[in-house]
Amino acid sequence: MSTSEERILVLDFGSQYAQLIARRVRELNVFAQILPCNAPIDQIKEIDPHGIILSGGPANVYAVDAPRCASEVFELGIPIFGICYGTQLMCEVMGGKVQKAESREFGHAAITAVEKNEIFADLPDELDVWMSHGDQIDSLPAGFKTLAKTSTCPHAAIACDEKKMYGVQFHPEVAHTPRGKDMLKNFLYKVVGARGEWQMSDFIEETIQAVRAKVGDANVVLGLSGGVDSSVVAVLLNKAIGKQLHCIFVDNGVLRKGEFDRVVKGYQEKFHLNLIPVQAGERFLTKLAGVTDPEKKRKIIGHEFIEIFEEEAKKIPNAKFLAQGTLYPDVIESVSAHGGPTAVIKSHHNVGGLPEKLGFELVEPLRMLFKDEVREMGAALGMPETLIWRHPFPGPGLAVRIVSDITPERVRVLQDADDIVMQEIHASGFYRKVWQAFAVLLPVTSVGVMGDERTYENTVALRVVESLDGMTADWAHLPYELLGRISNRIINEVRGVNRVVYDISSKPPSTIEWE
Ligand code: XMP
Repeated sequence: MSTSEERILVLDFGSQYAQLIARRVRELNVFAQILPCNAPIDQIKEIDPHGIILSGGPANVYAVDAPRCASEVFELGIPIFGICYGTQLMCEVMGGKVQKAESREFGHAAITAVEKNEIFADLPDELDVWMSHGDQIDSLPAGFKTLAKTSTCPHAAIACDEKKMYGVQFHPEVAHTPRGKDMLKNFLYKVVGARGEWQMSDFIEETIQAVRAKVGDANVVLGLSGGVDSSVVAVLLNKAIGKQLHCIFVDNGVLRKGEFDRVVKGYQEKFHLNLIPVQAGERFLTKLAGVTDPEKKRKIIGHEFIEIFEEEAKKIPNAKFLAQGTLYPDVIESVSAHGGPTAVIKSHHNVGGLPEKLGFELVEPLRMLFKDEVREMGAALGMPETLIWRHPFPGPGLAVRIVSDITPERVRVLQDADDIVMQEIHASGFYRKVWQAFAVLLPVTSVGVMGDERTYENTVALRVVESLDGMTADWAHLPYELLGRISNRIINEVRGVNRVVYDISSKPPSTIEWE
């Protein structure tokens, strides 16, 4: 069974939900990939999809610069499912008419079935949906019929059974359309005839075979960070090529307390990885001495990492390949929100941007996966939950959490304080509920009393945020008791801290990190 046997193509017309559509399809066990709407027809034919989904988008189909797909898409004879803008475009191309709606619909709406077909099979006649449109279909193309309506939108769902073209004005991919996934399922299983062959276990097996074929008897190097993506790559490749995989893990001196030993022990004992641990803390801290500018800190750490990586990789004979944990959102070609698809491929480099001059060929076994699928793969590979659900941790580590300059003593203070935050966040069950939790060492000393002595010591800020993707974030409303316990413990147990404050700012306008 091959992942490529059943393929759905999502054409992106600048929708904020294109990735969500692909994920929903994959959740239904059918492989989906995304292309910008202006993808050449030859590329589409080469993919040979079994069904095409046209995404929504912010443009108006009647605008001169409205984004369009190749007109041949509608002549391929492949089932097509339009969503919002995608439906309007299909309607216009096939000879119907779209115009500005008298009443725009945003948010919740109720649709009523006009005529049942496969798309609405096994669904009630009245359904809650989520709308977001200012235009609507005025007249249907020949051969099309209305499947559902709302009180203000006479053609909320349309179909041409003969051409296997279907379209909805609402967004079935979002959670606010409770039965939306069932509609997509009906399209996939009842119209396209999919059998649901996209299974993680098959994908793992295929990837292993593909990596073996690509790599042959050469060696592969991987920069292990301890994070989810590089760890899953390491465990997967270890399964595929065993000792041909060489994982370089660098202690840059600004890791969390005990992290280096924990990671080394865990990977060697549990996963038997061929690990090259490099203790280079002093080297990094010497270079960072006296540096206060956050961007300079990042550059120094990135640069030093590359040098060490290169030194270590050179020692490995026949090291032709570099493995990276690049994910699908990093390789999707993007479409600008308004009209003109830009088709710029985002370049992404994990492990701080290993330069091309290293001359490796890339092995990126996760490049077709979304983050949640990477976690699923980790679980299927037998990795523990504690690893799969690790919080993101920045490459420059604690260096961007020690505001202003970094000294070994300040690293010690922050590591000790941060360790208490981690212990308490784990013990209270909040680790899985929040996006990130950590301590920040501020360049502020303030007065205090300990025993009968006046102290003049450091301030630690707690930063705990909730987020879905790190792009926006809200400060976590932790219980006062938990905040109090963390504060007490830090002040009592960490030498050099006499004040703890809680950061109650959201992103935007604040950022998650302090530097
Ligand atoms: P901000 O602070 O921009 O952070 O709200 C968003 C997410 O990115 C992480 N972050 C970094 N990750 N190198 C990284 O690998 C960096 O220089 C860096 N700066 C911020 C941050 O931890 C959060 O998850």
